[in-house]
Amino acid sequence: MDNTKRENFGSKLGIIMATAGSALGLGNIYRFPCEAGANGGAAFLIVYLAIALLIGTPLMMAEFIIGRRSRSNPIGAFRKLDKTSAEGGKARKSPFTLVGYLGVLSAFLILAFYTTVAGWTLGYLGKSIAGHFGGQDLAGIQQQFSDFTSHPWLPLVCQGAFLLLTAVVVMRGVKDGIERWSKILMPLLLVIMVVLCIKSLTLSGANEGLRFFLKPDFSKIDAGVLISALGQCFFSLSIGMGALITYGSYIDKNDNMLSSAVSVTLADTLVAVLAGIVIFPAAFSFGIQPEAGASLAFTTLPMVFQQMTGGYFFCLIFFLLLVIATLTSTISLLEVIVAALSEELHLSRTRAAIIGTVGTAIIGVLATLSFRPGSPLHIGGTTVFDLLDHATAMYLMPIGGLLIVLFVGWRMKRADVMDEMTNGKWKENSGKMKEGCTTAAPRRHSTFHSQLSTLIYLIIRYLAPVAIAIIFISQLLK
Ligand code: TRP
Repeated sequence: MDNTKRENFGSKLGIIMATAGSALGLGNIYRFPCEAGANGGAAFLIVYLAIALLIGTPLMMAEFIIGRRSRSNPIGAFRKLDKTSAEGGKARKSPFTLVGYLGVLSAFLILAFYTTVAGWTLGYLGKSIAGHFGGQDLAGIQQQFSDFTSHPWLPLVCQGAFLLLTAVVVMRGVKDGIERWSKILMPLLLVIMVVLCIKSLTLSGANEGLRFFLKPDFSKIDAGVLISALGQCFFSLSIGMGALITYGSYIDKNDNMLSSAVSVTLADTLVAVLAGIVIFPAAFSFGIQPEAGASLAFTTLPMVFQQMTGGYFFCLIFFLLLVIATLTSTISLLEVIVAALSEELHLSRTRAAIIGTVGTAIIGVLATLSFRPGSPLHIGGTTVFDLLDHATAMYLMPIGGLLIVLFVGWRMKRADVMDEMTNGKWKENSGKMKEGCTTAAPRRHSTFHSQLSTLIYLIIRYLAPVAIAIIFISQLLK
């Protein structure tokens, strides 16, 4: 198999769309509004934005740097880079390769439980097309949800279909599969989001919901909220496990990664806010409590939709939105596995995708079946689904993120890191751009870019590891 010729993203827009595709997902559309609702509304948003820009963007950059510098999947990336940063470039086993394995393991585990909910979104798209919610009251819609999730085979079929859809796109490759579909699906997602926002804002009583979401209640901010915001940030930006190392390895050496990382962070936060603007006014307008939790998307909203004019249509496009957002996220998770399997074991992309899909399906089935009442799939009182969710969000991703920033900040050479951040325009001694760069690329690499790169480097080296470590440890002590 020819693995020497690696594919790249075709354009800067492609990078942003694919990375945004990975970032935007269930994390934005239903996890963020729930977290914000429970943690002080706009106050949570402000804390979240600060964490996303201060820690999220630098960590995203760190992953891009590892990916582009090594042009490799997460496992190969640490092996290659650690070899070159070691004395004299001697070949030796690097303990950091473990971070790569950890990342691929996380991709498997996240994909397994993520496709459970992905399957539900597909099932609910079907239900909304068939008009299953018309004329139902809240109890009826709640009953439908528990009937659906505990059905012996329906959620499994939906999960399988979703995995298949993901595999088909990933098999097509980076440019023709991932980039092409992200460029179609992301703009569509934004249009649907805006349509839903307008609808929600024009409902009677929308103001009250908006006030709840946008009026900060700072009294709710405590250490617990910081932990939730960091967890939300990792999950929402897809950082801490190598998805963006993989995508970074497809970025062209001339592309400006820093502006892509900032754009994706802002777009991700914008979509989370828009989701809040869809959900809170609609929920308040129909007298439904916003802290309704994860069932918000599958019970509260169908209920709200079926009470409003044009509800059939809006319900349908809402679930279409969920399917689209989820699909571009599952694509990025499967790509981590496929890149690692195909490069490490020298398999073809198709073979790697089949193995990855079957492997995920095996664990995924357990996650989905653990929702059946009386299911034996409980370990220590929690479902397999929750176990996978907690193991990845509370341990694997923070540990992965910590080791990634430590690697880039302390193990890689500063000159190499700065070189990646400024596309080779960095001059070590003066701490400024190399001569001539102002004429060669006057707009892309300004002094501002150079100063921002230095700031990001310092954050990666000092602030990010300390912040992640403190938050991780305080979560363990809780
Ligand atoms: N970011 C996605 C969301 O918000 C989920 C996701 C995709 C993800 N790829 C990931 C989470 C990698 C962690 C790591 O729904």
